[in-house]
Amino acid sequence: MRHHCLLLVSLVLVSYAARSESALGGWSPIKDVNDSHVAEIANYALSEYDKRSGAKLTLVKVVKGETQVVSGTNYRLVLKAKDGSATASYEAIVWEKPWLHFMNLTSFKPLH
Ligand SMILES: *[C@@H]1O[C@H](CO)[C@@H](O)[C@H](O)[C@H]1NC(C)=O
Ligand SMILES: *[C@@H]1O[C@H](CO)[C@@H](O)[C@H](O)[C@H]1NC(C)=O
Repeated sequence: MRHHCLLLVSLVLVSYAARSESALGGWSPIKDVNDSHVAEIANYALSEYDKRSGAKLTLVKVVKGETQVVSGTNYRLVLKAKDGSATASYEAIVWEKPWLHFMNLTSFKPLH
């Protein structure tokens, strides 16, 4: 009985280690782009970009996104934003360290 438990625990640990290794440095798709935290990241990216550039972009929707585990999490989002009456697509990269309540927009560019 005890042996079985140990075996199970070590199997779980091994698969967990394998998974976090493959996630580290790699980008994995965000399954639910409607998640409220994803919207929060997208809105942060736009308000930060607006603040830095003087533009007035507002979020229409997040089209897709990926996350990367670093010291914290990088979010690479493809989003649609409105600039006055024009809607365009952008790619934003936001670095979040949730335990410090830290976010930074590290890249923002229009997509063509
Ligand atoms: C996200 O919301 C949109 C519109 O509300 C919906 O069409 C879409 O299926 C949703 N996507 C997911 C992954 O829930
Ligand atoms: C945030 O990102 C910008 C652009 O990459 C960089 O210039 C700035 O130093 C960063 N700020 C912090 C607090 O890391």
